[in-house]
Amino acid sequence: MSSIRNIVVLTGAGVSAESGIDTFRTEGGLWERYKPEDVATPEAFARDPDLVLAFYDMRRAAIQEKQPNAAHFALGRLDAEWPGELLIVTQNIDDLHERGGAKRMLHMHGQHLNAWCGACDVRSPWTGLLADRPPCPACGTRALRPDVVWFGEMPYRMDEIHAALRKADLFVSIGTSGAVYPAAGFVRGARDLGARTLELNLEPSQGSRWFHECRHGPATEVVAAWVEEMLAPER
Ligand code: OAD
Repeated sequence: MSSIRNIVVLTGAGVSAESGIDTFRTEGGLWERYKPEDVATPEAFARDPDLVLAFYDMRRAAIQEKQPNAAHFALGRLDAEWPGELLIVTQNIDDLHERGGAKRMLHMHGQHLNAWCGACDVRSPWTGLLADRPPCPACGTRALRPDVVWFGEMPYRMDEIHAALRKADLFVSIGTSGAVYPAAGFVRGARDLGARTLELNLEPSQGSRWFHECRHGPATEVVAAWVEEMLAPER
């Protein structure tokens, strides 16, 4: 453990589950209630923008009522105190990592609290509704969409993620089912390049077999315990 200096953390919906934000593939998850092809693809947006915008308006409203949990705060503390390099890559479009204190982080699937203008390409902070077609704050055109990555679109900031993975001594995956690529492939990439790999998840994920070590339990417990371990003076 003591040879670890550079860490990449990947998070998914499970890290926010105990804050009351829906996951996708667990029992009662969002993809049991909605079909991804109806609400989370560019084709769905072209076909039925009202449905897609209403889906993201509902989720944008929901996240603003939620609070970061002990796992977000633990990662915020790791960010503040870890002396080596750290990158927290989240697939989540909520802002709970930021509110938990994380700074060295990026949103590979975009963010709820941004709107993206199809006319002028400018991204603007957004907390309200999009379904009523408000004008873009930058150009005034009524062409805003949520700034989220849909199935079939390229995740954001992949060059930065791959650069961090190449340097990583430790790759940690938290609260993700390992069902969606490219994020699901990070563990093998990191491992092939020599990183130690650790899964922290409620239960074994689809990619568990690729990790050197798996610790299963609620994120508020297993993430908090792991961060304590990483920051312990005797490490
Ligand atoms: P999933 O819903 O697929 O997986 C959530 C994972 O979190 C599961 O493996 C759960 O066992 C685990 N989990 C649930 N509660 C937990 C808890 N309290 N503590 C720890 N783990 C817990 O969500 P993601 O893997 O994030 O993409 O999904 C990846 C992508 O698929 C999302 O970003 C989204 C979705 O379709 C797009 O919309 C493009």
